[in-house]
Amino acid sequence: MGEHTVTVIDNRTGKQIELPVRKSTQGPDAVDIGHFFRETGYFTYDPGFLSTASCHSQLTYLDGEQGMLQFRGYPIEQLAEHSSFIEVAYLMLYGELPNQVQLDGFQDAITHHSMLNESLKEFFRGFYHDAHPMAIMVGVVGSLSAFYHDSTDINNPEHREIAAHRMIAKMPGIAAASYKHSVGEAQVYPDNSLSYTGNLLNMMFSVPCEKYEIDPVAEKALDLIFILHADHEQNASTSTVRLAGSSGANPFACIASGIAALWGPAHGGANEAVLKMLDDIGDVSNVPKYLACAKDRDDPFRLMGFGHRVYKNYDPRAQIIRKMCHEVLEKLGDGNDPMFELALHLEEIARSDEYFIERKLYPNVDFYSGLIYKALGIPTNMFTVMFSIARTVGWVAQWMEMIGSEDQRIGRPRQLYVGAKQRDYVPLGER
Ligand code: SDX
Repeated sequence: MGEHTVTVIDNRTGKQIELPVRKSTQGPDAVDIGHFFRETGYFTYDPGFLSTASCHSQLTYLDGEQGMLQFRGYPIEQLAEHSSFIEVAYLMLYGELPNQVQLDGFQDAITHHSMLNESLKEFFRGFYHDAHPMAIMVGVVGSLSAFYHDSTDINNPEHREIAAHRMIAKMPGIAAASYKHSVGEAQVYPDNSLSYTGNLLNMMFSVPCEKYEIDPVAEKALDLIFILHADHEQNASTSTVRLAGSSGANPFACIASGIAALWGPAHGGANEAVLKMLDDIGDVSNVPKYLACAKDRDDPFRLMGFGHRVYKNYDPRAQIIRKMCHEVLEKLGDGNDPMFELALHLEEIARSDEYFIERKLYPNVDFYSGLIYKALGIPTNMFTVMFSIARTVGWVAQWMEMIGSEDQRIGRPRQLYVGAKQRDYVPLGER
């Protein structure tokens, strides 16, 4: 059987071209339009990239209709049940589950990169006391190349690996320092005897004047949430990291661009927006009013935590987090958290509403994650920061894959120009 192609015919000129089809290992194949403009004089048009594959990748596979998510082929449900965030980070960076020696070596590398440069610690003092922690994260992560310029040669695989390890290792400390600044408390150094999430909780909530006991329920819940958020194909922030990286920008600047994109309420900022929405709704009696606003095309209000560009079925991560929510709230004593009850009621009503059913709008990962963060004592303005810590694994893995790709080139989309046609300048006195 010859090469698989797709034929495009211009019904104005009768001209037709054959476009080669690139085969996937799972999911849709892709029509290669790399030479489309050169051969037809036309651009293709796909704002929002609903039908566009921007790259080839071996990292994460999503099936939106089936509600499936796999990291390097492993179903998220199995990783959530059996793995750890550090093990998933190794899997994403190196492609295979580690053996014990590899896992211990990777854990050691991350642990021994977790301290922040002492001068960097001064950086936080420059921010206003009520700066949003995400604003601090964007600024501080973007400045890392000013402190760690010994690992920014993107063409050196060893530099790429050190930069990836540094990013994963330092995000918890930068996040915790952002939080400490917002509450006016002293920064806490990492403790190499603690787990990745245990360290984060200790750096956020311990104070010099008394011993802080890490709650194992919270430590485990955070580790699971971080696994679920580690990567998610070519979402907005990951695509931002890839585009920034395609110009040869240093890895720290690329991750800072990902943090900035993640902050938007349509993306990673949704978990914070869900809690604000539930707080605004306040009581189940107000649900119909808010649903009416969500369904009104003239009203910009969206039901935060609902809908997804890819999932037209339940977000598999939401399923896992919803179940964990019950367990965490029971164990941490908020079993009857009225906000959780309201969320359950809102989900039940929305999922039986024709508007949501017709548009295949289901709860996504952000609908429940904020409730767990709240139960863990994490303040609302730190929810997206938590997301950024976990997604740093995906961002650095996608960045490394892109930089190492044989067909890597600068990303430079074109446009459909619909502005003014050429015209001559009019002197001021004649206008
Ligand atoms: C994340 O891409 C990823 O993978 C992201 C993420 C990741 O891990 O990286 O999964 C994380 O960002 C999850 C999404 C978190 N965002 C929210 O919960 C915000 C609320 N959701 C919406 O803003 C929206 O659903 C998006 C942004 C998530 C998806 O937007 P799309 O794919 O562009 O869909 P759309 O806006 O074209 O909506 C299609 C229809 C529209 O109605 P009609 O024009 O057909 O009448 O559905 C409606 C929309 O108005 N709609 C909603 C809705 N989401 C879509 N209506 C009410 N409430 C909503 N939440």
